[in-house]
Amino acid sequence: MAQVLSRARRKADVREMVILRGRAAVGYFQFNLCAREIAHYCAGPTSCGLEAMMVDRRLQAQGIGYGALCQLPEVLRAHLPHHDQIRLTVNVSNRPAQKLYVRCGFVDTGAVYEGAPSGPQHVYSLTIATHASTSIAASSTGQGGRPAPEAPADPCRSVRRRS
Ligand SMILES: CC(C)(COP(=O)(O)OP(=O)(O)OC[C@H]1O[C@@H](n2cnc3c(N)ncnc32)[C@H](O)[C@@H]1OP(=O)(O)O)[C@@H](O)C(=O)NCCC(=O)NCCS
Repeated sequence: MAQVLSRARRKADVREMVILRGRAAVGYFQFNLCAREIAHYCAGPTSCGLEAMMVDRRLQAQGIGYGALCQLPEVLRAHLPHHDQIRLTVNVSNRPAQKLYVRCGFVDTGAVYEGAPSGPQHVYSLTIATHASTSIAASSTGQGGRPAPEAPADPCRSVRRRS
């Protein structure tokens, strides 16, 4: 993980994000905004790239990745309010990651990027509703209507911008 952090720190168009559990850093990802670097999988100026997603190996498969990715809409609105789409590439053989992204709302664009050193990559996309397109209407169904949205699995988990 330290290797990724130090390389990313030298790049101006990267927003580094640390996944926290309590006060402990347990994972990392970055938003890449460099048009030249993300052109092969992103789609225009309001689309940004999510890269280097990782959770501490010792803590994987405990729901940390899911908990963090579920916060992407609010994280994007808070840190990159002029972007409304997140794209990423995921190795065609990385089934755990593919499954996780789909569970968190990403859709497979159908494109496959063949230029990565590690092999072919699916291109996934998540479009975020902006505040302008979000509205709340009074429910007419009462308590017997739709169930309340699911609460975050662990309120201690959070995603924080690396300063
Ligand atoms: C992919 C990754 C970020 C997922 O984070 P995570 O915290 O482990 O994910 P979660 O615990 O939320 O689990 C998501 C699902 O993947 C499964 N999973 C996670 N890691 C797994 C592993 N190493 N092997 C098999 N399954 C795994 C979980 O059991 C869970 O399955 P479920 O939906 O049936 O419950 C993490 O495994 C990781 O850092 N992997 C190495 C780097 C990587 O591949 N990054 C993605 C690059 S695109």
